[in-house]
Order: sequence, then structure tokens, then C-alpha cells
Amino acid sequence: MATTRDLTETAPPATDETITCQGERFRLYLTDEAIQSRLQEIGTAISEEYEGRTPILVSVLNGAFMVTADLMRYITIDCEIDFMKLSSYGDEKVSSGNVTELKRIDANLQGRDVIVIEDIVDTGLSMQFILKKMQAHNPASLRTVTLLHKPTSNDTDVTLDYVGFDIPDLFVIGYGLDYGQIARNLPHIYILDEE
Ligand code: IMP
Repeated sequence: MATTRDLTETAPPATDETITCQGERFRLYLTDEAIQSRLQEIGTAISEEYEGRTPILVSVLNGAFMVTADLMRYITIDCEIDFMKLSSYGDEKVSSGNVTELKRIDANLQGRDVIVIEDIVDTGLSMQFILKKMQAHNPASLRTVTLLHKPTSNDTDVTLDYVGFDIPDLFVIGYGLDYGQIARNLPHIYILDEE
């Protein structure tokens, strides 16, 4: 998997602050402040790179709704938004490997500058699926944003253009990311405590 490395940051170590979700312990990992600061950098980069154009942001539901809302407010040029929805992990912590489309994009993407926004790229299978769907619309350009990137995805053939944080291969929750649909409303991101 290719990434624009200068727009990737390795996340700091988890803190000692813990919470319990679905009977499992998670450690505070990325604070709202750290997330916002990184999104601001990415929003600024997008605003500069797309100056004079009107990109359309394609947000992948459900997880990316929060990162999309915040990132969009850091983009200072004109931009549009649309949503698609894919099957999720269900209640499990491990990907089933089967990706299905639950809601299709409504906008006409032909000749448009498309920016796909994901919350996390884990195996990379979802992003691979999305990019294939997007390519079929013949966009003028196609780029990807993900807030989080796990190393598991390195075998998948997709390019990540803007990455918030590289994180270890552990389950994370909060800031839109769920565990069995719970925890999306947490303002910070928490990581599974292995101990
Ligand atoms: P992938 O297809 O394996 O890359 O997974 C993509 C989707 O799985 C993401 O958009 C998330 O919805 C979900 N996902 C992957 N890893 C996690 C995690 O650590 N916590 C919560 N959801 C995750």
C-alpha cells in the first residue's frame, strides 16, 4: 500500500487512563485535541492542493461521519459532500473480509475531483472496494483520506493519500469508531488494552 508519508504521523503511546466497553478494557490513545490538530493539517493541505477546484468528499458510513464533519470544516475552499455505506464488522473485532455496499453514492462523480474519507483502514479491503466503485464513475481525480491506518493493510493494493495516524494492529474505539455499535460518541480514541 502506498501512502503520502509526509502526511502520516505515528500515534503516541497509549496513556494509563482506561475505560471499559462491552466488558473489555481500553486505554486512552488519541485525544480530541490531537485528532483536531491533525485534521486541521490535512484540511489545510487539501485546501491548498485543490485551490480553484470544487472537490466532492465521499464519506464512508457509519464510522467516518465524525471525521468527515470535522475535516470538512478545516477545508477552506468550496467542496461538496456525499455518502456511501458499507457493511461493517458487525459486533466482532475482526473483519469478515466480505465487503458489501449498503448505500450507493447519489452524486454524479464523472469528471469530478473525488476525495474518499474513511475513519480507519485496517485490512484495506473496504478501501479497495470503494476505489473500484469510484473508478467506474470516471472521476477527474480520486484521492483518499483516512484518519487511522493499521499495518495490516500493507498487503492491499490501494494508495492512501492523506493519513492521520499510523497505529498498531489493535482494535480502537471512539470518535465515530464502534464496538458492536457502541462507543461512537466518545470524543477521544481508545485502544484495546492487551494486558
Ligand atoms: P478494512 O476493510 O479491514 O480496512 O476495515 C474497514 C472498516 O472496518 C472501517 O471503516 C471500520 O468501520 C472497521 N474497522 C476496522 N478496524 C477497526 C477498529 O479497530 N475499530 C473499529 N472499527 C474498525
